[in-house]
Amino acid sequence: MDRRKFIKSSAAACATVALLPKLLPAQTDKAAAPASAGAAKAKGVKGGPVPEFAKDMLTSDMNGLGPDGKPTGQKATYTGASMANTKAEKAMGHKMKLTKEEQAILDGKDGEEKAKLMKILVLFGNTFGAEKLVDLGGAPHSNMFIGAPYMSSMIKMLDECAKAGLKSYAPYTVNPRPYDVYNVQNNAKDMTMIYEGYSRQWDLDYVHVRLGAPDLNKRTCACYLEEVGNAPKPGTYVAWAESSAVNYGNSALGVRTNRNGAGMDLIQAMLGKAPLFGLMTDEGRKAKWLVEVKTSKEPDWGAIGTGIGRKCVEDVPYITGLDKYFKGGKVTADNLHLLKAMGSATASSGAVGLYHVDGVTPDAKEKGKKLLAKGYETYVIDDKEQAKIISTFENLWPDKDGDPTAAFIGCPHNSYHEVIKWGKLVTEALDKAGKTEAAIPIYMFMPNPVRARAIKEHGELISKMKRAGMSATNMCGVSYAGMKGFSDKVRGVTNSAKTRVYSTIRYFPDETLVKIIVTGKIPKGA
Ligand code: F3S
Repeated sequence: MDRRKFIKSSAAACATVALLPKLLPAQTDKAAAPASAGAAKAKGVKGGPVPEFAKDMLTSDMNGLGPDGKPTGQKATYTGASMANTKAEKAMGHKMKLTKEEQAILDGKDGEEKAKLMKILVLFGNTFGAEKLVDLGGAPHSNMFIGAPYMSSMIKMLDECAKAGLKSYAPYTVNPRPYDVYNVQNNAKDMTMIYEGYSRQWDLDYVHVRLGAPDLNKRTCACYLEEVGNAPKPGTYVAWAESSAVNYGNSALGVRTNRNGAGMDLIQAMLGKAPLFGLMTDEGRKAKWLVEVKTSKEPDWGAIGTGIGRKCVEDVPYITGLDKYFKGGKVTADNLHLLKAMGSATASSGAVGLYHVDGVTPDAKEKGKKLLAKGYETYVIDDKEQAKIISTFENLWPDKDGDPTAAFIGCPHNSYHEVIKWGKLVTEALDKAGKTEAAIPIYMFMPNPVRARAIKEHGELISKMKRAGMSATNMCGVSYAGMKGFSDKVRGVTNSAKTRVYSTIRYFPDETLVKIIVTGKIPKGA
């Protein structure tokens, strides 16, 4: 099953239980209804068939794959908490300790809607063996960004919460919208598809406004960029969703969040609480893998991220050999894109929600190799291994030998430094070739505040970029690539290993991508 289908199913399932709370085993229910056939059997209750809404939740596309693309047998839970040996019966028997206040909310003290949310959260925590709920700080980040009909039940649930006056404990950031009718799909055919396909977008945006999200200018998956400002202090418990943001937040910022599914982020935001388990605990942040990067030059960050994701699936890696690319061991505005590229690849080729980089990321700086769990395994990435990973990247264009037709840069969204870097790389290469315009259009995905800053501080370069055919957009590039008919008409190229995973767009390192952009041809041997 593909990821999109899974998200669709899990979102619908979550919303369904929210609307039918009596089906849920509550903390106070004496005879809790078993949620699975296995649990039912264990309790001596006759099990029934898996309900329609939960069918797709039994399998996952994030089962482990080796660098050869073959399954390793490892399974992921998506949350970042490896539960490979957990039995449903055991999970069903667990009960978190609630404070008097939490129990009162569950019993309806703050109204019916909040009680329903608390029921869902308690069940979620019990399932993953959490001991208790913790108070959240910083600000949430939500990946509820697709206003398609299949999200209707979830949107309805959130709308009921908004009508009841519930709100996030702090203003929160949200993923980019799935389309941009100003700069990208500004034509009648695409706009018709969009308005028909994303018919609930207005309702979703309206829900976000009432629950506490700022205006649409702040929409981005890279919420931690300084121009957007959602970068809580190390050690803060937060409720984030969006695999690349969770991965960056846990690792580079040192915040503590699990990989929440769409909707669970906002349930936790409205309650201001999250169950303490997995990546939020010291134990869950221990590394089961030591990854030694031993490439002879700067690694291909997307490729090594892909290799790590495939190998570790959702276990935590401790990565050595990268500190030399972070001057003074510091993650700064002009090097954070390296972690963003590698991390988002680990989170999309696997389900890595946290990695440690020796001498660089906050947990590793504080505890060093003490973070390695007992019995950890070792994975070495040298030039040979890196080449092997790249050799598994397939050409999925229907016309394999056709010329590229568009470039996609910025998944996750570009930082200010990347925008300027790409502006210079492309315009200087064009100057050298005696051209003003690139051979193919280049879509640069970024949050609006980054675009505004670039225009303000580099006006001349930005006009040159525009002349060259580079357009700025704040949408999600992968959503664009997912539009009906896209892969038949667009032969895309990208430097994002995440985009590669979720689309037919082909991955190339920066250097090669610049050549392609200038010439409109794939260099021989690339
Ligand atoms: Fe961001 Fe969309 Fe990529 S949300 S990380 S641009 S898939």
